[in-house]
Amino acid sequence: MNPIEHCNAIVTGASSGIGQAIALGLAGPSVRLSLVGRGAERLQNVATAAQQKGANVRCHRADLAADAELDGLAAGLAAEGPVHVLVHAAGALSWGPLQEASTIDLDRQYRINVRAPFVLTQRLLPQLRSCRGQVLFVNSTAGLAAGANVGPYAATKHALKALADSLREEVNPDGVRVLSLFLGRTASPMQADVHAREGRPYRPELLMQPDDVAWVALQALAAPRSVEITEIRMRPMVKSY
Ligand SMILES: NC(=O)c1ccc[n+]([C@@H]2O[C@H](COP(=O)([O-])OP(=O)(O)OC[C@H]3O[C@@H](n4cnc5c(N)ncnc54)[C@H](OP(=O)(O)O)[C@@H]3O)[C@@H](O)[C@H]2O)c1
Repeated sequence: MNPIEHCNAIVTGASSGIGQAIALGLAGPSVRLSLVGRGAERLQNVATAAQQKGANVRCHRADLAADAELDGLAAGLAAEGPVHVLVHAAGALSWGPLQEASTIDLDRQYRINVRAPFVLTQRLLPQLRSCRGQVLFVNSTAGLAAGANVGPYAATKHALKALADSLREEVNPDGVRVLSLFLGRTASPMQADVHAREGRPYRPELLMQPDDVAWVALQALAAPRSVEITEIRMRPMVKSY
């Protein structure tokens, strides 16, 4: 049986970009989707689209950078029962030279990009183990090698890689698979913002498309059970930067 055609899935960052595309890619008649984000209206729009594909959808509004909201979210998701697929797609990026970067921004990126996936994964491990589930960490090529102007972001994504790698060794014996996606530039509001800060025109058609990234991610999640795909690295076919 295709492991993602009949599943309970949680997607953070489901209100936009790559998370939204993965959530809608997962949506189907035998899927229960829990969507996480802050923007109520955007989340509801994604929920409606997922429901139109037959999914049973629950929306969870939470600021992953806020302790109380993160704790409440983790408790709420844990109470929903078994988790077959946990997708960490929420992320934040502050662009700029290290000399100008603030510790406030560093801490915010750490909270959203590292601490939140850590807390949610930890709290949902019993639910993941109970159904030999899968955890997908949406990482970045900056999580493998850091270029200029993304030091704090790249540091959090390197940390996210370490969390995923360590977790994989711990949960594989229980049948839980762990996948990191290392993505190059993908057309999304985050990337539009990066282009604006770089002072270059934003041409999304030259970048990877969220639906295409989601397609690859879903192929990996649907892989036969004798296989574990641990890492996928993707970059745009057109080299525009
Ligand atoms: N786009 C790229 O080129 C690229 C490349 C490599 C990796 N990535 C990674 O891909 C992931 C998705 O990014 P994207 O490009 O799809 O960006 P995006 O369109 O800006 O989406 C970011 C998502 O993260 C959520 N989020 C941000 N801060 C949050 C917070 N404090 N609490 C809860 N949710 C929060 C947003 O939801 P709300 O605003 O509703 O809260 C939104 O759904 C990120 O982890 C990013 O690092 C992106």
